[in-house]
Amino acid sequence: MTPPNHGDAHIRVLISEERIQARVAELAREIREQIGDGPITCIGVLKGSFIFMADLVRALGGPVRCEFLGVSSYHGGTRSTGVVRITEDLRHPIEGHHCLLVEDIVDTGLTLDYLKHFLGARKPASLQTVALLDKPGHREVEVIADFAGFTIPDEFVVGYGLDLGELYRNLPFIAVYSP
Ligand code: IMP
Repeated sequence: MTPPNHGDAHIRVLISEERIQARVAELAREIREQIGDGPITCIGVLKGSFIFMADLVRALGGPVRCEFLGVSSYHGGTRSTGVVRITEDLRHPIEGHHCLLVEDIVDTGLTLDYLKHFLGARKPASLQTVALLDKPGHREVEVIADFAGFTIPDEFVVGYGLDLGELYRNLPFIAVYSP
């Protein structure tokens, strides 16, 4: 069966909804095994991680706090500017909390590297990172997420929270975008 592309000739399904859901459940188990049954403060990076975050926190179960950080690094195009800007800070202190930074994708690594330092300075009890997607072909800083869902080729992807010019976030799958 041809996977749905929502009638858009620019997109091609790379990771189906079913594969994403199965991997999110596995990631949640791996994370709970590592962090234990206690409270986890999940910190979603807006906007790209909002759908992954929603699925992951439900799969994690147990006590979970949800925080969000607004970050802007792409400014609407398909190339990173390399400049990470905090547009919305955490609402509550994270000092002494076991924290999990929830990212949509690690591409150049600049955002993850910056946020690890930014959050580390707030003295969490521990700080781990999870990224749904890892695009290792494009790294500018040597950084890896503690947990990663899928390794993908060096192509621009949309869907499941990831956008191109604010569109496509609502696709339930991950698709490669070709202009
Ligand atoms: P970085 O280059 O690792 O700093 O990635 C920063 C952010 O760029 C990610 O959190 C995404 O929001 C966005 N990004 C990177 N690659 C893609 C992509 O292929 N599609 C959509 N957004 C992307």
